[in-house]
Amino acid sequence: MDKLIIEGGRKLQGEINISGAKNAALPLIAATLLAPGWHVIRNVPDLRDTKTILALLESFGAVWKRDGNVLSINTEALTNLEASYDLVKTMRASILVLGPLLARMRKARVSLPGGCAIGARPIDFHLDGLSKMGARLDLEEGYVNASTGNRLSGGNIYFDIPSVTGTENILMASVLAKGVTVIKNAAREPEVGNLIDMLISMGADIEGKDTDRLIIHGVKDLRPAEVTTIPDRIETGTYMVAVGATGGEVTLRNCNPNHLPALTEKLKAAGLIIEETENSFFVSRPSKIQSVDIKTQPYPGFPTDLQAQLMALMSMANGLSVITEKIFENRFMHVAELKRMGAEIKINGNSAIVKGSKRLKGARVMATDLRASASLVVARLAAEGITEISRIYHLERGYEDMVGKLQALGANVRKEKE
Ligand code: EPU
Repeated sequence: MDKLIIEGGRKLQGEINISGAKNAALPLIAATLLAPGWHVIRNVPDLRDTKTILALLESFGAVWKRDGNVLSINTEALTNLEASYDLVKTMRASILVLGPLLARMRKARVSLPGGCAIGARPIDFHLDGLSKMGARLDLEEGYVNASTGNRLSGGNIYFDIPSVTGTENILMASVLAKGVTVIKNAAREPEVGNLIDMLISMGADIEGKDTDRLIIHGVKDLRPAEVTTIPDRIETGTYMVAVGATGGEVTLRNCNPNHLPALTEKLKAAGLIIEETENSFFVSRPSKIQSVDIKTQPYPGFPTDLQAQLMALMSMANGLSVITEKIFENRFMHVAELKRMGAEIKINGNSAIVKGSKRLKGARVMATDLRASASLVVARLAAEGITEISRIYHLERGYEDMVGKLQALGANVRKEKE
């Protein structure tokens, strides 16, 4: 296992490129299961999670090659339709193969994802939706056995909560279904829009992109796709928050400022200077950060995937901040670690009350999940002294070359074996 050694206290300066979005690339890769032939996906980040989903596709019989950040995938010969526990347990998003396998192959066996560090995270919306479309689903020994005699049929699907991967799974199932599917209260995250663009380029008929009501007219078959992964808005946001923590002046290239409306407003209110072009952000921190309150919400609200990083920043701000987590019930794993570094945070139900103005210290901390780990990096970059963050494999699930990018911005960071 690797650990990260960070000597904090240096301002970030310079410019870096933002990578393709993990949470967009995963459904795009899963969607290649819908049509035989060579698909081309550009701007795919090289991460543990993208490696995991490619290993899953390979286990079905797909072949792929990577040239830089361009991925070519051929899912012509699918000989195995079982997603094994060993692969699914390391990444919940593996459930994204269920919809497309069922739509094209009419059969799939997918391990249930099991527990998760950030809450119960059930998949009932995925299963209820597929069942409404005519799929037969049996749960047996930790696996979902799914099948359909004929093509899936269109249905009316309503989500109690707009689920991102739920919307993506049902979209992928419905594009090849007979008839019309309507998804109400669909997720509007940009990653869902990226998938819709890919599916349309394959010949799918989908109305309502970027709205919470998607109407899908099923077609009989689809052709291979050529698509570009959108920039990672969470990676972008993480570096913006890091500049807030350390000070300095940073330009983030190849990003999409339109995808971060809530974060941009909050960081401006906290005192950061943020200038945007069509595909870049310039971020600087002229003076001390002021506290702001946030509440996580589905897009375009404040993303839950940036809550932990903002909490690290708020522990250094002037004043009191209330951070309310509305998406996941147990996403405060970073609080204990931030407290070890001297942050003053109290949890009250799904809110964290953060008393700012703390000078964080260099305690040894442990990464617990992907975004919690990112918050510890943000905190450590600003704290005085040298310390270690262990178990950084979590970070490698979702941040491409974080060490290289931070070094390019002048941070004193290196990776070592534990
Ligand atoms: N939910 C259900 N039943 C379901 C599905 C979801 O009750 O069948 C609930 C969840 O428990 C949660 C809410 O609905 O309370 C929303 O969850 P959602 O389904 O949207 O989450 P997800 O699709 O599993 C994706 C991202 C997460 C991100 C969330 C929220 C991917 C691969 N993952 O998860 O990303 O936090 O949306 O935006 O797209 C991360 O990258 O670190 C990460 C966790």
